[in-house]
Amino acid sequence: MLAVVLGTRPEIIKCSPVIHEARRRGLPFSIIHTGQHYTPELDEIFFQELDLPQPAFNLRVGSQPPLKQIAAILNGLYDVLSDLKPSVVMAQGDTNSVLAGALAAHKMNLPFAHLEAGMRSDDWDMPEEGNRVLAGAVADYHFCPTTVQRDRLAREDITRGVHVVGNTIVDASRYFSDVAKANSQICERLGLGQQRFALLTMHRPSNVDEPARLSQIMDCLDQTARALDLKIVFPVHPRTEKALRDANLWNKYESGSFILIKPMGYLDLLRLQSGAQLILTDSGGVQEEANILRVPCITLRANTERPETVTAGGNVLYAGANSSELSALAAHMIQKERNWACPFGDGQTAKRVINILNLNV
Ligand code: UD1
Ligand code: UDP
Repeated sequence: MLAVVLGTRPEIIKCSPVIHEARRRGLPFSIIHTGQHYTPELDEIFFQELDLPQPAFNLRVGSQPPLKQIAAILNGLYDVLSDLKPSVVMAQGDTNSVLAGALAAHKMNLPFAHLEAGMRSDDWDMPEEGNRVLAGAVADYHFCPTTVQRDRLAREDITRGVHVVGNTIVDASRYFSDVAKANSQICERLGLGQQRFALLTMHRPSNVDEPARLSQIMDCLDQTARALDLKIVFPVHPRTEKALRDANLWNKYESGSFILIKPMGYLDLLRLQSGAQLILTDSGGVQEEANILRVPCITLRANTERPETVTAGGNVLYAGANSSELSALAAHMIQKERNWACPFGDGQTAKRVINILNLNV
């Protein structure tokens, strides 16, 4: 029995191919939702659109200070894992839910499989960096997207149980972008017509939690959009919506260059990504999808744990807030030939993961 611990939007998306593959082969699995994300637009909609079974358990921990959130997940996992007795616990990525899943498995002597292992930004101000390193320290299976993470783990003396398998985001985004093309009406609903647009997603604490920084970035993006005659479609993460409203910035930006909207389902988001001239983001998953869909991307950060996207040529980093600089960079990226390679594998990652885990019926 495979226990899949997940709790946030990107984990639901990136675990989905593994869940589908286990289901397809009739292998036993159980989804344990921590409840870190609970707003329907960050949670429920993905179970529906990705055709996932409902979680067998939901710990409903909600939003809490990180340590209390992790402690609440650990408490809940103790009970659930004691009953389930899975042969392996799997979690994907670098959130608080992942760290708690890894620690719970470790302390209960259960094998832990880490999907998207070995990623490092070397930025310890990022809450995720500690989660990545700590989850990696106790993992028994390290499923690395590329050789970059395998080599990084080797430098940290982690060599056992390391497998380069690609990234399940390729499996998910390839399949669902075809579904999105056929079904999503989002461009029509937003009245985009022939209007050229950039897609923006932004939720990192380093960009949104400090009102002065948030306001500088938004001004810079606004001016860049005007300079390049672009609209910016911005599905706003709840963390960012709260920050914008608390700083009295929501009204300022709700018209003009920006189209501010609630977080979107996966199909609409993929359709918008495909149709965008440019993607502006601080998201990990969106950097990968931009690369896969061959849409130029500017990552609004000083570093990335996805350096392959930059090496491939589809992504550049920009952590400033100067509109002349950003406009020049954006113009350069928009005119780039979209011919870079996808470094994250062939879309068969979930099959490899399930083969390696060797679950018994
Ligand atoms: C979390 C992850 C981050 C991941 C992101 C994906 C950590 C440390 N952070 O960030 O790595 O990139 O998810 O989106 O694990 N909120 C809601 N509804 C929800 C969830 C959150 O309104 O369903 C609001 C609450 O005000 C909450 C805030 O968003 O305090 C932040 O939520 P949290 O889960 O702590 O972090 P994220 O920013 O979502
Ligand atoms: N996403 C989505 N709707 C949105 C914003 C993002 O479906 O409004 C998807 C996106 O396509 C990607 C994933 O959510 O697959 C990325 O999640 P997020 O940016 O929240 O987290 P990160 O990847 O940074 O951890």
